[in-house]
Amino acid sequence: MFAITPMESTLDIWERPQLEFRRLDGDVGRRLDALFGVPDCLLEVNPGRVLLPPEFKELADRILDLTVYPDDVWLVSYPRTGSTWAQEMVWCIANDLDFKKAKETMQQLRTPLLELSAIMVDDNKEWMKELGNSVDLVEKMPRPRFIKSHLPLELLPTQINVVKPKIVYVARNPKDMCVSYYHYCMLIHNLKGTVEDFCDLFLKDRAPVGPVWNHILGFWKKRHEPNILFLKYEDMKRDQKGAIRKAAAFLDKTLAEEQVNQLAEYLSFGNMKKNPAVNLEPIIARKNGPEFLNKSDLRFIRKGEIGDWKNHMSEEMAARFDAWTEENIRGTGLTFD
Ligand code: A3P
Repeated sequence: MFAITPMESTLDIWERPQLEFRRLDGDVGRRLDALFGVPDCLLEVNPGRVLLPPEFKELADRILDLTVYPDDVWLVSYPRTGSTWAQEMVWCIANDLDFKKAKETMQQLRTPLLELSAIMVDDNKEWMKELGNSVDLVEKMPRPRFIKSHLPLELLPTQINVVKPKIVYVARNPKDMCVSYYHYCMLIHNLKGTVEDFCDLFLKDRAPVGPVWNHILGFWKKRHEPNILFLKYEDMKRDQKGAIRKAAAFLDKTLAEEQVNQLAEYLSFGNMKKNPAVNLEPIIARKNGPEFLNKSDLRFIRKGEIGDWKNHMSEEMAARFDAWTEENIRGTGLTFD
């Protein structure tokens, strides 16, 4: 088992936070409960003002205290940044383009989302019963492990900061991220409400998961550390092969040009969209009935475009996003299209 030597821990001291959970009362709590149709659907978790379902209480300490190994490969992002896509790229590169296994085994089993058991609650619980507890899944994985998380740095295992495994962080322009998140919440979490209401909560850091900039900037500030690769959705979209080469170099893998082409083809939006190992359709069909996918346009792998926000946001809302983004990234060197 990997052990942290005292010398390493004094090189990078990271205090384990004491977790606090707060019930969301007042207007925000009421609005969220109405949107998701569940009383007390989210709790505020501190540090970080992170909003997660109450089930997170059962996982939070285990996650903070999880053993991290130097050969782990983590993929961290705010939800709806293209993390499934990026994770598929990472997994395939690290597993010598084993497309057969990638297609045969659901991504959640090959590279589990660490906190999934706290997210797939209510009528998604059945799926989790089958998969098992997501922290158990990670703990039982053979090494090297591939792990995904949407948690901000504050709630990730403390050892990450000392052991420094490879971490790929993915970011996306917040307007598209929010629109994508809105559709995802309708599809998976029965959200009923307007895109305006959801955008307003998102801008106030009160959408599920909560503060956006703390999440992104926490990793942006670390982007020059050798164990961090910071990717943007827009760069992957414009230059998939460039992103593959960058990720391969980061993972210490060499790919021939032919392999880069094969992987780019495998990862294309059209192929990801129809791949049941990543598109969640088997689970969606089981939960909502097989007819659902014929009747509804909602999809987990949905549109895959840059700028879809234009089809959903008013000019006024877009201006609020731009001002908010500008205010939060000023002086950081981070840019979005
Ligand atoms: P849209 O809803 O805008 O289509 P995540 O995996 O982090 O939940 O992110 C999901 C978003 O990534 C969705 O965005 C999805 O369509 C997009 N996506 C997934 N695979 C993609 C691909 N191969 N190319 C482009 N976008 C992709």
